[in-house]
Amino acid sequence: MHDDIKTVLYAEEEILQGIDRVAGEVTESYRGHDFTVVGVLKGSCIFAADLIRRMPIPLELAFVYASSYGAGTESGELEVNFFPSEHEIEGRRLLLVDDILDSGQTMHRLKSEFEARGAAEVKSCVFLDKPSRRALPFEADFRVFEVQNLFVVGYGLDFAGRYRNLPYVGALREEVFTSKV
Ligand code: IMP
Ligand code: MG
Repeated sequence: MHDDIKTVLYAEEEILQGIDRVAGEVTESYRGHDFTVVGVLKGSCIFAADLIRRMPIPLELAFVYASSYGAGTESGELEVNFFPSEHEIEGRRLLLVDDILDSGQTMHRLKSEFEARGAAEVKSCVFLDKPSRRALPFEADFRVFEVQNLFVVGYGLDFAGRYRNLPYVGALREEVFTSKV
């Protein structure tokens, strides 16, 4: 698996330092308020786990499933499955957590769906932000790193379902895109 990586963009240590910083920002922003962290599956699982363990304040955890990628690297039709029940959404402050903010489609849709279902507030926290790819106006309230327009994998991010378990973020070798699609 490591052989498929061309370059490492963020090593594990740097990732954890970045998450420490953002966890501190999120903690200060929610201190004294009840809130729920809503992880967007599958990509956010690793980031959400590291983030919440660095936030020493009371919080609840929920998940939503959103999928817009097939085997390629371009956004397709967005599919959303809601797991949180009504009482976990209505009147609650929610913090959506995702691996990457790309076109903005996923976060834009989830924010309006949760608002329509009665959330009191919906904010967002992303591990990576690719502002150059935005197709819809959406900015995250918290983000760890800004990345250029490059398809990356690892630390929860996948290509064709794989590489989520890499402990770092890297760019794939060109041959991988052509051989596995
Ligand atoms: P958006 O809806 O276009 O903002 O895309 C968000 C989703 O696209 C993320 O949750 C990822 O699953 C996926 N995605 C976007 N860019 C990348 C990337 O560079 N690597 C892996 N997945 C990506
Ligand atoms: Mg994803």
